[in-house]
Amino acid sequence: MIIDRTRVLHTPRLVLRPFEPGDLDALHAIRSREDVNRYLYDRPMSREDAAAKLSERIERYSTLAQPGDTLLLAVALRAPGGEVGELIGDVNLHWQHGEHRQAEVGYVLHPDHAGRGFATEATRPLIELAFGELGVHRVYGRLDGRNAASARVLEKLGMRREAHLRENEYVKGEWTDEVVYAVLAREWETAVLT
Ligand SMILES: CC(C)(COP(=O)(O)OP(=O)(O)OC[C@H]1O[C@@H](n2cnc3c(N)ncnc32)[C@H](O)[C@@H]1OP(=O)(O)O)[C@@H](O)C(=O)NCCC(=O)NCCS
Repeated sequence: MIIDRTRVLHTPRLVLRPFEPGDLDALHAIRSREDVNRYLYDRPMSREDAAAKLSERIERYSTLAQPGDTLLLAVALRAPGGEVGELIGDVNLHWQHGEHRQAEVGYVLHPDHAGRGFATEATRPLIELAFGELGVHRVYGRLDGRNAASARVLEKLGMRREAHLRENEYVKGEWTDEVVYAVLAREWETAVLT
């Protein structure tokens, strides 16, 4: 087991921890919003939908043991004293099956906390984990071509814009473009060392 429910990741301002039953209000507050879902495959969630998602996160997505697993952690503010504070979003890492050794990252932050570097800060430890303990060769992120804030997050993480696919998906009643960003293990190493 690489990550289990006892393992918590820290950044200077954030704590990445497993979801808990008490997170329903905070999760619903984020996922019920139209603006948050604008460039996601999801639609705004009812409280019942959010409760189902929360159970799934607790039961299936709190551990990372083998390729094929997805880790989906709550992003909480970290008080100056170190104690865990308000839940402001989530971040995920999907460890792909197979010999290609790839992983995908994703993130969602409450708009009240946007623009302060939190998505970038919360995603960095998952990329570290992927290239470190998981031994992945390439980490990538995919987004709606209109999602400029998300593209900026991946650029700030040192990823390269590798593809812009024109209307390759039909999402929520419209054709959408998909953009792909990625970084290789050796590029990440070089960026960290320089
Ligand atoms: C995308 C998202 C995660 C960004 O979170 P965040 O915490 O604000 O991200 P950061 O503060 O780390 O970085 C955002 C960057 O985008 C920039 N940005 C924000 N809105 C922008 C826009 N409309 N156009 C261009 N850049 C924009 C910010 O200025 C910042 O860049 P900077 O640090 O160079 O100033 C957040 O907006 C979100 O959760 N959106 C809804 C869900 C979503 O779309 N998730 C991503 C799916 S691929």
